[in-house]
Amino acid sequence: MAEILSADMALERAAALLAAGETVAIPTETVYGLAADATNGEAVARIFETKGRPRFNPLIAHVSDMAMAERIAVLDPLSRKLADAFWPGPLTLVLPLREESGIHPLVTAGLDTVALRMPKGFGAEVVRRLGRPLAAPSANSSGRISSTTAEAVATDLGSRIALIVDGGPTPVGLESTIVKVEDGAVRLLRPGGLSAEEVEKVIGNPMLRGSAGAVVAPGMLASHYAPAARMRLDAAEVWPGEALLAFGPKRVRAAENAVAVANLSEAGDLREAAANLFSHMLRLDRSGATTIAVEPVPKHGLGEAINDRLARAAAPRDKPLAEE
Ligand code: TXA
Ligand code: MG
Repeated sequence: MAEILSADMALERAAALLAAGETVAIPTETVYGLAADATNGEAVARIFETKGRPRFNPLIAHVSDMAMAERIAVLDPLSRKLADAFWPGPLTLVLPLREESGIHPLVTAGLDTVALRMPKGFGAEVVRRLGRPLAAPSANSSGRISSTTAEAVATDLGSRIALIVDGGPTPVGLESTIVKVEDGAVRLLRPGGLSAEEVEKVIGNPMLRGSAGAVVAPGMLASHYAPAARMRLDAAEVWPGEALLAFGPKRVRAAENAVAVANLSEAGDLREAAANLFSHMLRLDRSGATTIAVEPVPKHGLGEAINDRLARAAAPRDKPLAEE
């Protein structure tokens, strides 16, 4: 089983393992990441192996400062403006890769672009200590719910990794928002922990939606984030035997039928709901119910990303996502 160390004790040990080409589960403000040295191909390969992840999915490279970002990628003025506004934080920028970046091609899946993010807290500290960028997808087996606690990482991947760094529950609870600047416009590739509205306030324009090119963003597999139970979205009532994923102060009809209930936010607060999403899905999944009924969640602000993750969790398993 993996060793679990508290974040304030783990910096040196984590950096040493990463320098030796091992994978380490680390906390970030969004979700736990399964990190490896992004310049070391064997280390990055270990990420895919540990997650059982399809290889075509490129990974996010995490940096500690702007100088490291600029050594890896070319930041146009608009991307720099977004970095200034939101880094460190839950925003990932897809940028042209520099030839001398040192990023291993497994990280980018051979693309000429790279997804960069500057995380908060332990993630940034360990990158700084290592002096190299870290590739880190969410610390969960491929297609499963992203882990927002060290305990969830341990249950899922504990037998396959050496170290889990425990930084407590992740404050944002959703993966980062991924955007790409294209000809002066910003495209939203994945809604996430930073709402589209916040990005649009900074750029002064609405974003383009959907992935234009061949790249395959986060859940190109429709069943990404899937719990074992079936998910029934926008439920108007609870059927006997179902678990209920609730939202807000008011319950749907027949809520008393639910064998287990978890409320994303009693107060109807989308930020709180985002932070609770994956851990509540996991809790209801463990209740043994075969179906989780989900109350409607508003679609504005962080509700966009929450609904995106719910739709993926509810999608038929192992089918490619029909997008656009
Ligand atoms: O919050 C997060 O972003 C978490 C934490 C650990 O930082 N990380 C995360 O990474 O969610 P990952 O690898 O699960 O998601 C990376 C997504 C992939 O689904 C991929 O499609 C997209 O980023 N991506 C990576 N490189 C890309 C590129 N060059 N162009 C377009 N999309 C890219
Ligand atoms: Mg993931």
